[in-house]
Amino acid sequence: MAHPTYSNLIGGEWLPPKSGKSFLNLNPADHSDVVGEFPASGADDVALAVAAAKKAFATWRLVPAPKRAEILYKTGQLLQERKEQYARAMTREMGKVLAETRGDVQEAIDEAFYVAGEGRRLFGQTTPSELQNKFAMSVRMPVGVVGMITPWNFPMAIPSWKLFPALVSGNTCVIKPAEDTPLSTYNLVQALMDAGLPPGVVNIVAGFGPDAGAPLVEHKDVRAISFTGSSEIGSIVAQRAAANFKPVSLEMGGKNAQIVLDDANLELALDGALWGAFGTTGQRCTATSRILVQKGIAAEFSAKLVERVKRLRVGSGLEDATEVGPQVNDQQIETSTKYVEIAKSEGAKLLAGGERLTDGAYGTGTFFAPTVFGGVKPEMRIAREEVFGPVVSLIEFDSFEEAIEIANSIEYGLSTALYTRDVNKAFTAIRDLEAGITYINAPTIGAEVHLPFGGVKQTGNGHREGSQAIDFYTTWKAVYVDYSDKLQRAQIDNAE
Ligand code: NAI
Ligand code: MG
Repeated sequence: MAHPTYSNLIGGEWLPPKSGKSFLNLNPADHSDVVGEFPASGADDVALAVAAAKKAFATWRLVPAPKRAEILYKTGQLLQERKEQYARAMTREMGKVLAETRGDVQEAIDEAFYVAGEGRRLFGQTTPSELQNKFAMSVRMPVGVVGMITPWNFPMAIPSWKLFPALVSGNTCVIKPAEDTPLSTYNLVQALMDAGLPPGVVNIVAGFGPDAGAPLVEHKDVRAISFTGSSEIGSIVAQRAAANFKPVSLEMGGKNAQIVLDDANLELALDGALWGAFGTTGQRCTATSRILVQKGIAAEFSAKLVERVKRLRVGSGLEDATEVGPQVNDQQIETSTKYVEIAKSEGAKLLAGGERLTDGAYGTGTFFAPTVFGGVKPEMRIAREEVFGPVVSLIEFDSFEEAIEIANSIEYGLSTALYTRDVNKAFTAIRDLEAGITYINAPTIGAEVHLPFGGVKQTGNGHREGSQAIDFYTTWKAVYVDYSDKLQRAQIDNAE
């Protein structure tokens, strides 16, 4: 079947990769359905894109921020008009159900309108000078050319979290989208261009991590890198960037816990667990992968959860009845399969799922049965390592204090959820859970764009997206204006 071929976007022009190589973007629900052919770019293509971004920076940085913001606002409007079209394209290339890809596009719309408002803020500070007739203030400056490397699980939302705040701040960008889902980045950038973004302000270089991502990280004219993906690659990216003292914003994995205390609304906690663990087929950095249940309610909770998991409808995300779509590719299926084997060998009890689905229509895609393990102990690998698939572990605990300890006993620190009716325990958990996000009586997934997004420990390196993204995409300049008409020395040079 004929499929479209895409080029890189460099300086406003569509250019094929220097290597002449390409790769196929496949529909995970049906591998015979080719979404498109994309450039397998290399360092040469990255160099051209960075040069185009550098050239565009000279003029883009001088466009008043409210004007830059108007382009983002218009982009949000275009995304609203194209929401259904882009959501369908995203389900086809990534697999998650239409309701969720509509949500993914909606996240980009929300981000566009939120960040557009920032064009009339970008606040700095004024402060008194220690001297007379001298004025002191701080202003935000753009960083320059920013490189972005994104994953496949939120193919439009994550690029929008990076591009929009970078753009409103006056930066120009080179983005290397995930090799599984480049089309949604193309669609997002198409909306930006149709909204009036000048050529070269955003450039797309498609390709694989080591070939196209690594040269972007290492290019001397790239002033900052924003990365979302695995902790393993995040660590490589940070080390390479450190050679040039390049700031890096890292957003990585999770092993997120939902804690259910025995006073919780059980049905609510079940709804939350089901959505948190199996939404996006478990392929979210904030996915619930550990459910910590207090002993008194554990048997009932487990039985009800398993019953509902077995009823989940797995299938193509384009079909209305589907609740859980395919995993994105064979590699993710292999990871899920591997962790099922690990869990079994550690003595965990398989309560539902546990294998790849291959019958009938499943045979053409990468489907994995929604999986639940019971009897999981906190020290098992299945309780500590990220699976990034539809696999959840039930862990029993005695006391609230023990639950917090187990929740914190891992190397990640992204999202956490607590189900309870006890306000004292809720606030204690908010204080004590080591995570960038804590939900009370809501699942571990569901972040909003105007709050800080990110985590502690192996999840990140201290930066936050969402409300704090502007802090990464700007640098501070201190400004002193002396209107005394004489040399005034600073206090340290003036001492008696
Ligand atoms: P990955 O970390 O390998 O890829 C993320 C991005 O980094 C992609 O655009 C990739 O091309 C790029 N990349 C890979 N190697 C690179 C290198 N040497 N230099 C620069 N860029 C490079 O993630 P992948 O393979 O898609 O998924 C593997 C695992 O990562 C998942 O099973 C999951 O555990 C985790 N992951 C976490 C995500 C999150 O939201 N935090 C998102 C996607 C994956
Ligand atoms: Mg694909």
